[in-house]
Amino acid sequence: MKVDLLQMVEAGGCSAKISPRQLEEFLKYLPLPEDPDILVGIGTHDDAGVYRVSDELALVFTTDFFPPVCSDPYEFGQIAAANSISDVYSMGGTPVIALNIMMFPSSRLPLDACAEILKGGADIATEAGVRIIGGHTIDDFPPKYGLAVVGYIHPEKIITNSGAKPGDLLILTKPAGTGVILAGLRLNMASDGDAELAKMYMKTLNRSGAEVMKKFSIKGATDITGYGLAGHALKMAKASNVSVEINLSRIPLIGDTYRLVDEGCIPGASFRNLEFVENDSHLTMNLNYNLKMIAMDAQTSGGLLMCVPPEVSENVLSELHKAGLSRSVVIGRVTEKREKYLYLEN
Ligand code: CO
Ligand code: CO
Repeated sequence: MKVDLLQMVEAGGCSAKISPRQLEEFLKYLPLPEDPDILVGIGTHDDAGVYRVSDELALVFTTDFFPPVCSDPYEFGQIAAANSISDVYSMGGTPVIALNIMMFPSSRLPLDACAEILKGGADIATEAGVRIIGGHTIDDFPPKYGLAVVGYIHPEKIITNSGAKPGDLLILTKPAGTGVILAGLRLNMASDGDAELAKMYMKTLNRSGAEVMKKFSIKGATDITGYGLAGHALKMAKASNVSVEINLSRIPLIGDTYRLVDEGCIPGASFRNLEFVENDSHLTMNLNYNLKMIAMDAQTSGGLLMCVPPEVSENVLSELHKAGLSRSVVIGRVTEKREKYLYLEN
């Protein structure tokens, strides 16, 4: 029997995340632990928590898991693992160890598929230099997979959502459109070529981008996942108390993403993300609707969005290109806090 995981879910990958508005709503009731060694906690909505062990060492700790984003179990494992590890990279950390988190419907799928998912995850972990040292599996439908990852970081070299400075340029390291293309695949609107391209980007580790950030002592960054480019940019603007301008026409796109959106292929998660950013955003007059919805598109294992001082931006870009992130480009800039946090222009 050929397993097709995509047929088992309505929303896979990071578009299965709960809406950012609901998340903020219930996080309000969560008591924040007080401890001077918590260097990054829940308050700033960062990609991972950071806990100081000594003056030289802190742990970056994160978890992500989600339902299938593709049909093939092995590729699903690869993508889920790359996505989970990314939150360590976006903080500037070095991922070291991980645990598997698996939910698997043992009565509906052959156990081989479970093994394939884990194999895909293990292979990407190995590529990242991460040792998987345990895990936990629950019988559940639909399947879900991801990792809890621990990384090392120097306590004074943490890259956060709150590190954006007025004047910084925003560089995005991967093209956008995974949510649109996955939805298009389900609706038989996306081409196989675009689906392959999207999977290739989702499997690509954000490691080389993180190395470039460390080399240039970048202070502010995040990775683009379920809340879309606009949602993550907004979280960064709020945490840094700055405003962020994005030139939507500069956003690099995977394959036919624009055409798919133009033909109405807009996943539900995009509307949730729009609802989340709307009040804090200024949308320029005559804003292109398709580009606006692309900025809302939930990405799975998306690129890094980094805040780069203008004097080093050319060098950062050329290093990113040399590292194989050939579509890295400046998509906007950070300004002093203005009336709104987010300014979207064509
Ligand atoms: Co993240
Ligand atoms: Co995450």
